[in-house]
Amino acid sequence: MIQIFRHIAVVIMREILRHCVWNRIDWRKLLLASAITTAVGILGPSYVVPYPMNTWLLSSSIIVSSPISLNGSLQSRESVTQAKVEQFHLVPTAPILSVNSTVIPSKAARVKVSGKRNSVARRRRKKSKVNNDAKVVPPVPPRIPAPRQLQRYIWSLSPNDALLYAKKEIEHAPVVSDDPYLYAPIFRNISVFKRSYELMELILKVYIYPDGKRPIFHQPHLQGIYASEGWFMKFMEENRQFLTRDPEKAHLFYLPYSARQLGMALYVPNSHNLRPLSIFMRDYANMLAAKYPFWNRTHGRDHFLVACHDWGPYTLTMHTELTKNTIKALCNADASEGIFDTSKDVSLPETTIKTPRRPLRNVGGGIRVSERPILAFFAGNMHGRVRPKLLEYWKNKDEDLRIYGPLPIRISRKMSYVQHMKSSRYCICPMGYEVNSPRIVEAIYYECVPVIIADNFVLPLSDVLDWSAFSVVVAEKDIPKLKEILLAIPLRRYLTMLTNLKMLQKHFLWNPRPLRYDLFHMILHSIWLSRLNQIQIPES
Ligand SMILES: *[C@@H]1O[C@H](CO)[C@@H](O)[C@H](O)[C@H]1NC(C)=O
Ligand SMILES: *[C@@H]1O[C@H](CO)[C@@H](O)[C@H](O)[C@H]1NC(C)=O
Ligand SMILES: *[C@@H]1O[C@H](CO)[C@@H](O)[C@H](O)[C@H]1NC(C)=O
Ligand SMILES: *[C@@H]1O[C@H](CO)[C@@H](O)[C@H](O)[C@H]1NC(C)=O
Repeated sequence: MIQIFRHIAVVIMREILRHCVWNRIDWRKLLLASAITTAVGILGPSYVVPYPMNTWLLSSSIIVSSPISLNGSLQSRESVTQAKVEQFHLVPTAPILSVNSTVIPSKAARVKVSGKRNSVARRRRKKSKVNNDAKVVPPVPPRIPAPRQLQRYIWSLSPNDALLYAKKEIEHAPVVSDDPYLYAPIFRNISVFKRSYELMELILKVYIYPDGKRPIFHQPHLQGIYASEGWFMKFMEENRQFLTRDPEKAHLFYLPYSARQLGMALYVPNSHNLRPLSIFMRDYANMLAAKYPFWNRTHGRDHFLVACHDWGPYTLTMHTELTKNTIKALCNADASEGIFDTSKDVSLPETTIKTPRRPLRNVGGGIRVSERPILAFFAGNMHGRVRPKLLEYWKNKDEDLRIYGPLPIRISRKMSYVQHMKSSRYCICPMGYEVNSPRIVEAIYYECVPVIIADNFVLPLSDVLDWSAFSVVVAEKDIPKLKEILLAIPLRRYLTMLTNLKMLQKHFLWNPRPLRYDLFHMILHSIWLSRLNQIQIPES
C-alpha cells in the first residue's frame, strides 16, 4: 500500500515539476495536478514523500509575493538591512504559497520542530529505502522577489557601489541554522553562502561581448567530458535574469569562448604546440581592450572565462593580464602551476554528458549500503602519473578493491561502469593527465563517495563547499595504504558522507532549464563571490 502511494506521489510530482519547468505553465493543468497531489498527500501517510510537499509545488516561475513590505524610508541604511534580515528570516517558515485551492501545511516547519538531528536520521533512513526509484528531481526553491523599494535602491547604485553594498551585507549575514533547500553540513558556511546567493540574484548583471565568430565563440558544445564549459555558455547566453545589454551596468564581463573548440580549430595534431592557441587568445583580449574601454579600466579583473578543456589554463599564458587578472573558472584547477590562482579563480566541476537532450540520465539510484558488494572501484585509461601507481598496488590484489584499467568487456557485460559505481561504497578518482577527472561528479551522480587522489587539485567549488563532508582525499604517496585508510572510516561517518553526497547532487546538475542552486547558478555564484572579494570596504 505504502509502496503504491509513494509511487503515485512521485510520478505526479515529477509530472508537475516537468510542467512547471519544461513548458510554460498551463495554470489549469497545474491546479488540477496540485489538487490531486494534495489529495494524495492527505491520504497517503506523511512519510510517503521524500521532500516537503510545498517544496515540490513551488517552481521558480510561480510568483510569490513577499510577506513583508519594506516599511520606512531607504535613506537610512540600517533600516534596509533590518528589513532584509527580517524578511529572509521569514522565508523558511512562512506559509509561502497563496494559491487558494492548494492549502499546504508547511511541513518544513514541522520538520524543524522535531529537531534537526532527528530529521537527518529520518531522511537517511528514508533515502536508503527509496533508493532504487530515487530519480533526481530536485525540489525547486521559490525565489522571493526583493521588495520594490530595495530593488529601486539597488538600481540607483553604480555597479561598484552595489558590490560594496553586497559585500557589507554578507559580512553581516544572518545566521542560518536550518533551511529547507540548503543542507548546512555540505557548506563551509551556509549563512554566508545563502546571503551571498540572494544578493547575487538581487544585484548581479553580466555583459557578454558580442565579438568573436563561431565555432570558437558563442557556440556551446554540450556533449562529452568538457560539457561544463558548453552548458555554462548556453545558459549564460540564454539567461534573462543576469544579463545586461548595457556594459556600463555590468559587474562582470564574460568572454564567451570554448577552450575545446579553440583546440579543435587551431591545434595541429601531434604538434605538441599550444602556441597558436595562446596567440589567438592574446589577440582576442587585445582586440577587446582596444575596442572597448572596459578591459583597461580594471586590467581585466572584472572579466571572466569558463574553460573545461585541460588546455584551458595553458592557452592564456601569452597575455599577462588574461593570465593574472581575469577570473578563470577552470576544470584544470592545479594550484602548483602558477596559472590557477587559488585566491580568486574558480574550480569548475568537470561533468560528463552523454546525452545532451537528457543531461540527468542515470542520476541517482545508488544501492543500499548494506548491499554494496564493493568497497572501492576504479576503471579507466592509464593517463598521468597516479593511475599506473594505483594499478601497481591494487589491481587484482584484493577482492574488495575492484581496480581495473579500462573495464574488461567480460566484466562490463555483466555489470556496467555505472552499475559498478552504484554498487561501490567508494569510487576512486585519481587524476589523469591533469588533476581534474570527470569521475568526481559521476560519483556524486551515482551516489558513491569519491576518493580523490590528485595532489595540488583545488576541489570543485571549494570556495563554498566543504569537501570533507562528502569525500575522502588521499595523498598520492598514500596509495599503498588505500585500503587501510578506507577501512579506518567508521560506518557512521561513512553514512553521513553518503547522506551529504545525496544532498549535494542538486548543486551539480545541469537541468534542461536552470533551477535555483543548480550547477549553472553555483558556478555563476562562485564567479560573483570572486568578484566581490576584489572589493575593499573603506575604513570608517
Ligand atoms: C509603517 O509602519 C507604521 C506603524 O508601524 C504604519 O503606521 C505605517 O503606515 C507604515 N508605512 C507603510 C508605508 O507601510
Ligand atoms: C481564498 O480566497 C478568498 C477570496 O478569493 C479569500 O477571501 C480568502 O481569504 C482566501 N483564503 C486564503 C487561505 O488565502
Ligand atoms: C559564518 O559566517 C558568519 C558571518 O561571517 C559568522 O557569523 C558565522 O560564525 C560563520 N559560521 C560558521 C559556522 O563559521
Ligand atoms: C587599452 O590599453 C592598451 C594597452 O595599453 C591600448 O593599446 C588600448 O588602446 C587601450 N584601449 C583603449 C580603449 O584605450
